[in-house]
Amino acid sequence: MDANNTLTGFNSMAATFAADVDQAFWINFWISIVLGLSVIVPMFYFAWKYRESNVKDEDIINYTHNTPLEIAWTLIPTALMMVLFYYGYTSMKSLRTMPPASESITIKLEGSKWKWKYEYPANKSGHVHKITSVYDKKIGDVKRGLYVPVGTNIILEMTAPLNDVIHSWYVPAFRMKEDVVPGRTTKQWFKSDVPGEYEVECAEYCGTAHSYMYSKVVVMEQADYDAWFESTAKSPFEDPSAATISKGQSLYEDNGCAGCHSIDSDAILVGPALKGIGAKYDAEYLKDAIVNPDKDVPEGFYPGVMPPFALPDADVAELVKYMQDAK
Ligand code: CUA
Repeated sequence: MDANNTLTGFNSMAATFAADVDQAFWINFWISIVLGLSVIVPMFYFAWKYRESNVKDEDIINYTHNTPLEIAWTLIPTALMMVLFYYGYTSMKSLRTMPPASESITIKLEGSKWKWKYEYPANKSGHVHKITSVYDKKIGDVKRGLYVPVGTNIILEMTAPLNDVIHSWYVPAFRMKEDVVPGRTTKQWFKSDVPGEYEVECAEYCGTAHSYMYSKVVVMEQADYDAWFESTAKSPFEDPSAATISKGQSLYEDNGCAGCHSIDSDAILVGPALKGIGAKYDAEYLKDAIVNPDKDVPEGFYPGVMPPFALPDADVAELVKYMQDAK
């Protein structure tokens, strides 16, 4: 991921409909150029040809109309507009026609300030993968992402929490973008035949950390995907034999806290750093900071930036413990 190059992805066509979208774009582009020039070039030519010093009053004739010319300048642009419509319509149709659910994997997607969450159907052992993907400023990369097998239809059911704002899930390499709206379910599908890692960007201005609301799609070989999907690992690229993390750390990662708060340094990402916070505040204060963040906003920060987190009491207690342990 290169955060300085926001156009990463346009150099590859990683979804099956990407070529249709590009074709529609370039046909639109060239027809617009031709139609534009066909008006602008004659305009300058006639302005020059019939300039005042070049026309004598007795040469001026009043034309009322010219039927063949009028028919030509109506029919030719109309035909070109129909060409534009055809390619626009067919490429939109390929994007908007969902494949049958029985031949697809349906994944729930949630966008919120400022993280993306993906929830898979249960695997054979009943485990449901729930992945939270945030951009980690410290490593300059996206932590976790949407993992999908190559050559498979993926249907995304997208939404945002009611107390959040509109986001938009945009994958330049796929040429697809779909709004993620609080309280509404939008759908988008894709199929990628090219294994690789593709950037996801939020394409709807959503506040303070909008420009860091990145994620990624990782298109994997079927066998690699299956091996991960039937496991309980949070990602295919994390060592399953590594030391298990605490419940608190797991909650911290799954709720995307790391996207805005640094836990192991004094760096201010969006909100205050949490290192050493246990020494400054008691458990009750830290609990309020999670469930009712606007109750007391530290100096230099603004209310309304952090949404309240409606989590079970036990989870909040684990998170508070994790914060108190961050020294
Ligand atoms: Cu989410 Cu911009």
